[in-house]
Amino acid sequence: MTLPTEGPSGSLRRLEAEPDPRLAPFSTRDLALELRQRLRAPELALHVGDLADQLGVLGIEIEQRTEASSNRLSRTRPAACAAMIAGHVESGECKLDGATVLELGCGSIHPLGTLMVHVLCGARLAVGVDLDPPQDPQTATRALLRLALAMLAAPEHLAPWARRTRQQVLAALDGFDLPKLWLGDPAGIDGSRLRLIHGSAERLPMAQGEVDYCSSVSFLEHVPDVDAVLDEMARVMRSGGIAVHSIDGIDHATYGDASHGPLDFLREPAHLQLVFGCTRLRPSEFVARFERAGFEVLAFEEHRRVEVDDRMRMGFAEPWRSMPKQTLEVVQGCIRARRR
Ligand SMILES: C[S@@+](CC[C@H](N)C(=O)[O-])C[C@H]1O[C@@H](n2cnc3c(N)ncnc32)[C@H](O)[C@@H]1O
Repeated sequence: MTLPTEGPSGSLRRLEAEPDPRLAPFSTRDLALELRQRLRAPELALHVGDLADQLGVLGIEIEQRTEASSNRLSRTRPAACAAMIAGHVESGECKLDGATVLELGCGSIHPLGTLMVHVLCGARLAVGVDLDPPQDPQTATRALLRLALAMLAAPEHLAPWARRTRQQVLAALDGFDLPKLWLGDPAGIDGSRLRLIHGSAERLPMAQGEVDYCSSVSFLEHVPDVDAVLDEMARVMRSGGIAVHSIDGIDHATYGDASHGPLDFLREPAHLQLVFGCTRLRPSEFVARFERAGFEVLAFEEHRRVEVDDRMRMGFAEPWRSMPKQTLEVVQGCIRARRR
């Protein structure tokens, strides 16, 4: 066995040093990408000076500082997405214990994060569906273990609404192979409890009425045939089951270019089926579609509104130019519905 060699002591303080002005022109993003590249280099010499300690501190600081809902690999985001069901559980309208839950368009970065929280909160089976395969299965699997350990340490902090004890979380982890998850091996996931389906939400490999709770985040606005997806969701959900779907109706070009207006894509002609991957259905327009598919809409929550003046509206193509201001102004929202 090789004992760790002792590095120079007192070196952590160096992180408090003055910023290097030569690096000032580079954005944090550029520096993060550069650092990731360097960390991957096979010749990385961690034994040189205090590099290992400095990176160790940085790792912990990054982990703390990036606990945000915009970070898909954080613990905060899956916990927040899992909490979309919280009000329904707390009111007794929906029970997670023993439930079958489904997430549509669960993404390719951390596809099973939200569903893992549901499993640890008592779901019997949690299934995620996405067209895209995971981009980095090893990282996503490690993030899953980190999330599970955080849930084990403090379920009352990450999912207070679920009222789970540490013993219950530990019991829910029973079928997972934690050493495999540690290595980033997806085979460590208990497939009888937590499953990722690589396919379309238009054809779900699930039985009629099997699902108690179905959710999605920033998914429905990307689906060209949204009625087909809602019909399929209605098929697999049991009567009384709860559906919660958050919809992002902002022009997705703004996420890469802040100078782009949140509704600029409404200027493009209506015959374009997708613009920057979005159908441009306005969030509140989904309400009628849910009703038509066999759901009773319990609430439409507005999450973000932008002001639309007449000049802006005149720049839109039809049908948006003639839409009520109220419909146009609500750009993000969440639909809560019950399967009839
Ligand atoms: C904007 S991403 C959101 C991902 C994830 N929910 C999140 O919040 O990070 C939309 C996702 O929907 C998926 N998607 C689009 N159409 C789909 C379909 N018909 N069936 C399943 N997934 C689909 C895409 O592959 C993509 O991962």
